[in-house]
Amino acid sequence: MTGSSQEVVTTFEEGYINDLFERLKTQLIDEHPDGLMPRDAHPKMHGLVRAEFTVHDNLPPHYRIGIFAMPATYTAWVRFSNANSAAQPDAKRDIRGMAIKLEGVPGDKLSDEPDCAQNQDFLLISTDTFLCDNVQTFDGMVRAIQGSLWDKLRFFACNPGVVWRLICAFKVFANPLAIRYFSSTPYLLGDHPVKYCATPVAANTQAVPAHPGDNFLREAMVAQLAKQPAEFVFGIQRQSDPRSMPVENAAKRWDEAASPFEAVATLRILAQEFDTSERNRQGEDMRFSPWHCLPVHRPLGSINRARRVVYHGISQLRRRVNGVSL
Ligand code: HEM
Repeated sequence: MTGSSQEVVTTFEEGYINDLFERLKTQLIDEHPDGLMPRDAHPKMHGLVRAEFTVHDNLPPHYRIGIFAMPATYTAWVRFSNANSAAQPDAKRDIRGMAIKLEGVPGDKLSDEPDCAQNQDFLLISTDTFLCDNVQTFDGMVRAIQGSLWDKLRFFACNPGVVWRLICAFKVFANPLAIRYFSSTPYLLGDHPVKYCATPVAANTQAVPAHPGDNFLREAMVAQLAKQPAEFVFGIQRQSDPRSMPVENAAKRWDEAASPFEAVATLRILAQEFDTSERNRQGEDMRFSPWHCLPVHRPLGSINRARRVVYHGISQLRRRVNGVSL
């Protein structure tokens, strides 16, 4: 069974996606009537940094597809972020994000956003499962959060799995450069479903400061990258069983014992000074999307299909409001 043939699009899906987009857009406009309009999700940036992404030269043939086809080094931008729609202090429990943008990638892309025509993006978060299985549940969660106390109680009582994943995923981390990040949702590699992860090479020995400042995660990155680079191994996990590793359930963990992540590239965050007003503004203006990709790396599943509409619409909105050329 190919990755594409495992996708199931219900008749109601488009309605949930449109409802979700309208809700997030309206909330963003209401909450930011003037000034710089941030992202709806992942608005707080711990740092936008320069990196190199080197595809390994000894890969087996089933990985030799798309950007992994040939050994090569791409220059890249990496944006580290929180997930909560509020830019809250770093000591609050949250999910952390790592958005990678490879530059100089030739070939048609699935998105037609002109500023990303030469990019292949990978979006990763600090948990290996997404909170919700599909867009219907995610839209229901957003509706409940925007609704009354009764709406929230009803949603979370009916969806204990979401509550459990929230408890497991929301954590306090010491340094964004020492976190393991996952795509959590699946992608095609040719015609086979896979997931991605980035694992820090150095062991995490840092502790959360005893009296953490609001932005201690940025400070930890500044201190480390002033002295030395940081490396991640980029890995691919191949689906080995469509039933226990479904493409239409983003909340289902793909068992690493059954199919481990195998190293295919190295992401090297260069030693650098990045905490400047120009770089921070650049990070606000940029946009990342799983749909900035070659067709052979197409995102799979309803959560990813929803992201195609939402990321394009929200990034167009905030860039227009913020005066960024579209
Ligand atoms: C239906 C589910 C989801 C919705 C509605 C959603 C929504 C959003 C939105 C609106 C943004 C900001 C886009 C922009 O203005 O440029 C964003 C950013 C982001 N999302 Fe999602 N998201 C979803 C699922 C996921 C999943 C499954 C991941 C897993 C990797 C993820 C990871 C990220 C990351 C890392 C960013 C920050 C990108 C950056 O640094 O600019 N999201 N999301």
